[in-house]
Amino acid sequence: MSAPPGNVGAPLPSSLKRRLVVAITGATGAVYGVRLLRVLQAMPSVETHLMVSDAGVLSMHQELDMNRKQVEALANVVHSVRDVGACIASGSYESEGMVIAPCSMKTLAAVAHGFSDNLISRSADVMLKERRRLVLMVRETPFNLAHLRNMTSVTEMGGIIFPPMPAFYQRPRSVEELVDHTVGRVLDLFSISHQLAPRWQGLKGAPDQALPPGDPLEAAVE
Ligand SMILES: Cc1cc2nc3c(=O)[nH]c(=O)nc-3n(C[C@H](O)[C@H](O)[C@H](O)COP(=O)(O)O)c2cc1C
Repeated sequence: MSAPPGNVGAPLPSSLKRRLVVAITGATGAVYGVRLLRVLQAMPSVETHLMVSDAGVLSMHQELDMNRKQVEALANVVHSVRDVGACIASGSYESEGMVIAPCSMKTLAAVAHGFSDNLISRSADVMLKERRRLVLMVRETPFNLAHLRNMTSVTEMGGIIFPPMPAFYQRPRSVEELVDHTVGRVLDLFSISHQLAPRWQGLKGAPDQALPPGDPLEAAVE
């Protein structure tokens, strides 16, 4: 059956799209937020709402040579971090959830303590109170006890702590592949289908795992 005339290629109305809130804060790894936005931009069924903190703008400039305008152009809707009266500050505004990519330890602390002094921490607070999906791509190393406790608190409230730790088992050939693998795993958490990285199909042709005779580990295994 052919599509009704006049409806071909018509963009979906905002109310029918899956809304995803994205925030970029001042931890290193702006590339994760930018790549996420680029991937979602190519999905007509998803509407992105973006906030970038002042420190996020600094790291985007430092790491990607991008300015605020260039990054904001990748989103459907842009909100000022200071606009605590924006639609996404209310639980009555429907959305699927939120990703903070990357998430600084400062913003993690604000989320962990319900300290909603800007639109990023307020939106995250809304996600938690409405029991929506909240993913924090926290980035720091090493962690101090405050960081660890704050991550525990967010987890206890239902948020997902997702440090962008690279995986090597798919043998990435570039930084871009590493980033795509991580961004793909974030999209998985929202059941947004993608082709960013191959799915693991199990070990194939693995070498014989038996230890050579006389290997000191052999004694340890026994
Ligand atoms: C180049 C650069 C890299 C930074 N990297 C990190 C980081 O990886 N993790 C972190 O928690 N803070 C990092 N910071 C510090 C944060 O930007 C700073 O704490 C800031 O106040 C966070 O504010 P925001 O959460 O509002 O973006 C970095 C700062 C700069 C300038």
